[in-house]
Amino acid sequence: MSISNSVSNRAIVVVGSLLFVVVIYACFWPDGSATFFHLQDEENSTIVYATPKDELEVALEGVSMKNKTLIIAILNKAYVQQNGMLDLFLESFEEGEGTKFLIKHLLFVAVDQTSFNRCSTLELNCYKLVTEGVDFTNEVFYMSKEFIDMMWRRTLFLGEVLRRGYSYIFTDMDVLWLRNPFMKLNHDGEDLLMSSDFYNGNPFDDSNFFNTGFYFVIPNNKTVALFDEWYESRNNSTGKNDQEALLKMKREGVFRRLGLKVRYLDTTYFTGFCHKSKDFGKVITVHSNCCVGVKAKLTDLTAVLGAWKIK
Ligand SMILES: *[C@@H]1O[C@H](CO)[C@@H](O)[C@H](O)[C@H]1NC(C)=O
Ligand SMILES: *[C@@H]1O[C@H](CO)[C@@H](O)[C@H](O)[C@H]1NC(C)=O
Ligand SMILES: *[C@@H]1O[C@H](CO)[C@@H](O)[C@H](O)[C@H]1NC(C)=O
Ligand SMILES: *[C@@H]1O[C@H](CO)[C@@H](O)[C@H](O)[C@H]1NC(C)=O
Repeated sequence: MSISNSVSNRAIVVVGSLLFVVVIYACFWPDGSATFFHLQDEENSTIVYATPKDELEVALEGVSMKNKTLIIAILNKAYVQQNGMLDLFLESFEEGEGTKFLIKHLLFVAVDQTSFNRCSTLELNCYKLVTEGVDFTNEVFYMSKEFIDMMWRRTLFLGEVLRRGYSYIFTDMDVLWLRNPFMKLNHDGEDLLMSSDFYNGNPFDDSNFFNTGFYFVIPNNKTVALFDEWYESRNNSTGKNDQEALLKMKREGVFRRLGLKVRYLDTTYFTGFCHKSKDFGKVITVHSNCCVGVKAKLTDLTAVLGAWKIK
């Protein structure tokens, strides 16, 4: 890791609850490849050889915890500049309580060469998403055709990870990790635990407004089916991003139809800018939702991390 080991995890004494107000800066609402081939030897007895593991399997095995759980973040060119989102994201793992070790379980999926190179330079766990027929090497603007293609490619990829039997936290890069989320992500029969922009206090109420920028998903037939349908919905989702497409599916009852148990995460712990006050004694992640543009997100998240450090 290029990250300095000198920044030791701080033993943080939480002095009550600290209420802070984020400077709002232009922010507003807004295949299961377990395949084998057979070779026959001269005596006609069959020897079974495992196919060589593909790059993705190697990456997933290398990064995941013993129980096949990992963290996945998608990295693109816009996030890798110096003093940019990637640096801030990594700094949050350094500054967070008990979060530093999670970096080794974090797989960065780069969608372009620039971000892959930067990721490799930092000696992070990097996987280059090969994108047939789509070139994400140019700057990708929010909701441009390239952005939407990239988004759907990401959905396809995340479904593939489930198909291979891995659980993961998907995290956007504009999320600060201040405490270890796994501690609050105990799951008892839930298939999917989703962060919320707005949380109404009932974790199992589908009228909570979810955000696909942070979630924990368990691999099983139901979640694989959900991701397949989500990806297939792209043709009927013109002008929608993946979150809006999933929202539409939810309204049409996909969770019930597939028998998925979904829990919505309490914004007291998994918080963001849609709610302005946070309790640093409890907060686990801070997402710059309800905040548009890399620059504005950076400004606000930097302010939050700054406040966290001196709390
Ligand atoms: C895997 O282990 C971690 C660490 O103990 C735990 O937090 C996580 O929930 C486990 N994953 C699953 C899918 O149970
Ligand atoms: C998932 O589906 C496969 C094939 O459709 C089936 O063999 C398997 O038993 C299912 N697993 C679970 C946990 O339902
Ligand atoms: C979606 O559209 C693409 C090309 O536009 C096509 O290849 C694909 O089969 C379509 N998928 C579905 C599920 O209709
Ligand atoms: C797209 O929408 C049409 C009309 O609502 C529907 O018949 C079709 O099944 C949808 N396709 C997908 C892939 O959801």
